[in-house]
Amino acid sequence: MVSLSLVITLLIKKTVMRRLACLCILSFFLIVSCKQNAVTEATANEVTLKTDTTSVTINRDIYGHFAEHLGRCIYGGFYVGEGNTKIPNTNGVRNDVVDALKKLKIPNLRWPGGCFADTYHWKDGIGPKSSRPSMVNVWWGNVTEDNSFGTHDFLNMCELLGTEPYLSANVGSGTPQEVSDWVQYVNFDAKSPMSQLRKQNGRDTSWKVKYWGVGNEAWGCGGNMTAEYYANIYSQYATFMTDAPNRTTFKIASGASDDDYHWTETLMKNVKHKLLQGVALHHYSVINWDAKGPSTEFTEDHYFATMKQACFMDSLIINHSAIMDKYDPEKKIALVVDEWGGWYEVEPGTNGAFLYQQNTMRDAMIAGCTLNYFNNHSDRVRMANLAQAINVLQAVILTDEEKLLLTPTYHVMEMYNVHQDAKRIPLDVKTVNYVYKGENLPAITASASKDSLGRTHISLVNIDANNAQEITLNLGANYSSLAGRILTSAKLQDYNTFENPAKIVPTAFNGASLKGNTMTVKMPPFSVVVLELK
Ligand code: AHR
Repeated sequence: MVSLSLVITLLIKKTVMRRLACLCILSFFLIVSCKQNAVTEATANEVTLKTDTTSVTINRDIYGHFAEHLGRCIYGGFYVGEGNTKIPNTNGVRNDVVDALKKLKIPNLRWPGGCFADTYHWKDGIGPKSSRPSMVNVWWGNVTEDNSFGTHDFLNMCELLGTEPYLSANVGSGTPQEVSDWVQYVNFDAKSPMSQLRKQNGRDTSWKVKYWGVGNEAWGCGGNMTAEYYANIYSQYATFMTDAPNRTTFKIASGASDDDYHWTETLMKNVKHKLLQGVALHHYSVINWDAKGPSTEFTEDHYFATMKQACFMDSLIINHSAIMDKYDPEKKIALVVDEWGGWYEVEPGTNGAFLYQQNTMRDAMIAGCTLNYFNNHSDRVRMANLAQAINVLQAVILTDEEKLLLTPTYHVMEMYNVHQDAKRIPLDVKTVNYVYKGENLPAITASASKDSLGRTHISLVNIDANNAQEITLNLGANYSSLAGRILTSAKLQDYNTFENPAKIVPTAFNGASLKGNTMTVKMPPFSVVVLELK
C-alpha cells in the first residue's frame, strides 16, 4: 500500500498534480484508518471490546500537563515565592498544588512555554534571585518577568511532583549554542563548563531531563517560519542537543497547527529520523478566534460548536498519523499533542492577556472525548499536554490567593488515570448521534484498557446535551465484580467556585448492570463514567 502511493507520487511531476495525488492518498489512508478505529453511526449504542488484541500500551505521558509563564499559571499558581507566609509552600511552590497534582499522577510537565519559550533565555533564570535580570513578557500582557522562577525552581518542583520535566527550548530568538548549553547544564554529569556552573548554583547531580521541545509553533509565534525552513533549523538545533554518552534526549519538533498536513509531511520527509523522536500537534477547541464565546454563560449553539472542534481531534490524529505512517511505518516517532483544550473569552474583569477562564461540564466533555481519542490512538500518540495546568485556559486547578479549587477537567483526568501504562483494548463503537439543528456528532465515545493487576477499565462519555443514552457493551469475557464512578451535574454550565468547590465531583455510579459477558450502562446527558471490572 505504502510503496504503491510512493510510486504514484514519483510518477507525477507537476506540483498541482502532485498535490492532488497526495490528497487522494491521504483520503485512502483516512478510510483505512477510520475502519481500524471502527466508530459507526447507529440507532442503538453498542461497544465491543476486542480483548484478543491488547498489544499496545497506553503511554502515561498522554496525561501530561503544560505550565507557561502566562498570566497566573506560574506566579500565583505554582509558585508564590519563598518568603510567602500566607500560603504554605516548599521553596516557594504551593503545597496544596503539589498534593493535588500528585493525586492526579501527572506524568510530565511542559515548561516554560508556549509562545513564551521562544523569548526565554534560560541563563537569566539561574543564580541568586536578587541578581537575575528582568525581561518583558511580550506575548502575555507585556508584564515584567523577574525570572524568580527559573531552571532550578522548575526542575526541583518536578522532583517534588514526581513528574518528568519537558523543557521547551528557545529556537525563535535563541541560538543553537544557548540550547546546547541548556542541555549540558541540566544533563551533563562529568566536568564541563556548564556542569561546573550548575554545581556553583547549588546542584551537584544532573536532573537527566529526557523530553525537549525544539521551539514552539514555529509557523507562528515561534518565528513565522515555513515548514521547509523550520525542518532545516530543527536539524541544526537537534544536532547539538547532546548530553552524556549513552543517554539520548527525546527531541520533539514544533508541529502542525490543526490540519496543516503539509507541516507534518515536510518534517517527516526532510528531517533525519535519528534526530526526531516526536512531532507535535496543537489543536484547541475554539469556536471562532474572533468570537470565542463565554466560558460559563454559553448556549447550546456554543456547546455544539465547541464539541465539533473537540471531536475534530479524532480526525486530526488519524490524518497526521497516516502521513507519519508513510515515512515511519514502524511508528518509532511519536505524535505529541502538546497543546489541547477549550479556549473561550476570559472571565469578565480579568486581564485579557492572562487567559483565565472558568471550567464547566462542557470542559469535562472535551477532556473525556479527547482522552478517549488519545487512548484509542496510543500506538502513535504517546504524549500530550493539556493547556494549561493552573489558572490558564482549560485548567485543572484554579487559585485565588490562598484558595484553590479542582475543576471538572481535573476530575475527568483523575478518573482516567487508571489507563496510564495499561494495555489498550481496541473497541468497535456503534453510537447514536447527538443531533442539533440538523447537524450530527457521535453521542458516545469510549476507550478501554487492562492494567498490570488484570483489571479492565472502560471510560465512556455521553456528550448529548439533552438525552440520556443506554449502551450495550460486549465484554468478550466474564467478570465477577463491577464498580464505577460518574461525573455529571444538573446543568452543562455548572462549575466549581471558591465558595462551593465540591459542586461537581465524581460520585459512585449505579447505572451499570452485568449479565454474563454483557453489560448495560445508562448514562445521563453530558456525563463521564469510568468503570472497573474484575
Ligand atoms: O497556550 C497558550 C498559547 O497557545 C501558547 O503559548 C501557544 O503555543 C499557543 O498558541
